[in-house]
Amino acid sequence: MSKHASLPGFRDFHPEEMARRTQIMAAWREVARRYGFEEYDGPPLESLELYIEKSGPEIVNQLFNFTDKGGRDVALRPEMTPTLVRMLGTRIKGLPRPVRWFSTPQLFRYEKQQRGRLREHFQLNMDIIGEESIVADADLLSAALEVLRVLGLTASDVVARVSDRRLLHAALVELGVSEENLAVAYNVIDKVERDPREVCLERLGAIGLDRERAEKALGLTDMTLEQFAAAHPGNEVIAKVAEDLRVYFAALGSLGFGDWVTFDMKIVRGLAYYTGVVFEIFDRRGELRAICGGGRYDKLFSALAGVDVPALGFGFGDVVLGELLKDRGLAATASRALDAMVIAIDDASREAALETVAALRGAGLAVIYPYRAGGVGKAMKAASASGARDTIMIGPDETARGVMKVKRMADGSEREMSVEEYLGELK
Ligand code: HAM
Repeated sequence: MSKHASLPGFRDFHPEEMARRTQIMAAWREVARRYGFEEYDGPPLESLELYIEKSGPEIVNQLFNFTDKGGRDVALRPEMTPTLVRMLGTRIKGLPRPVRWFSTPQLFRYEKQQRGRLREHFQLNMDIIGEESIVADADLLSAALEVLRVLGLTASDVVARVSDRRLLHAALVELGVSEENLAVAYNVIDKVERDPREVCLERLGAIGLDRERAEKALGLTDMTLEQFAAAHPGNEVIAKVAEDLRVYFAALGSLGFGDWVTFDMKIVRGLAYYTGVVFEIFDRRGELRAICGGGRYDKLFSALAGVDVPALGFGFGDVVLGELLKDRGLAATASRALDAMVIAIDDASREAALETVAALRGAGLAVIYPYRAGGVGKAMKAASASGARDTIMIGPDETARGVMKVKRMADGSEREMSVEEYLGELK
């Protein structure tokens, strides 16, 4: 082992891993483009202050922060949303709405390393700013699902679980949870699948819910949307949000993702700033952590930037997705695709071989050649190991006739043709 190992939770990207990262990035970009999003980026280091107030304790406890040489308290960005709000807050007034922005930042969180959780990751962020319509929420989730579809996954591999903070808020207030205890109640619901039931009930007891009401609160988490609405007759907020969600699910159906989504009150989201629809995408087998998470955060612009603009977005990480692609045999492994290796069969042909290389590269092909003069047999071996589609041989005889000998590696067939004929055939 090298004396200088990489830090825990930080990855080296060898070509094989880089191939997967590039595959994921390409899918992210393609979908962002097709959905009409513009790309932005911000600095990887921000002032600590940007995170401590609004992201909530879950992220703040995981910050990579330090004091810089100028005495500033700074942090590596653990998420992109505060940067987005800072950047857009000063500009949003002059922009036609809604604004659709995307970015693919590398983020840093001091987490305990485990499967799907590292100390750095890349995250696609897609955010829509300045739009209240629930249809925007549906379009946004469909973008995240489209990424999965582009990568070859289907509704039987993954599921988006959707809830709405307003439903949970209204139901918990109806049960008598006070505003200052809501964060605890959210946290209990958020962890209901991982914590033993007794622990959940105890924690709800500690914020003043008697046994019966605590049971009721936990009971909410298994309800369908219609059961939930029926359980709260006369609650106007719940009736309105339930209607919104019906529109939302119908829009997702029309967009082609009806089978990919489900209502699930257990989805709360760890971050503090969400105010409306929230969602997380999981693998159906339940083996991995969340692939993607997001929702509406209508109050974050007023809190951080002093402008009252509704907003929604998601973060879609590369780590869990990469695991899933590997598990399902969908991950890219080829780190390059070579069109040809060009071999000069004697010293006198080297010049012609290099000119051929230049012509092929100039036409856009990926081409290599042996740097050292040596036996043709050795060069052929190297060509075969390189994975190039064709081996092109150039000797005095070929040069005199203005052709090259092309061997297709897959079937061993050999043909003579000019550079122009070769390029013409590839087109
Ligand atoms: P988040 O749920 O903290 O949301 O992260 C979103 C996704 O990033 C997760 O579902 C997961 O795929 C990935 N992720 C998070 N932490 C790690 C980690 N330590 N290692 C590997 N992957 C990780 C946010 O960050 C919000 N800012 C998303 C958002 C954008 N909401 C609105 N706009």
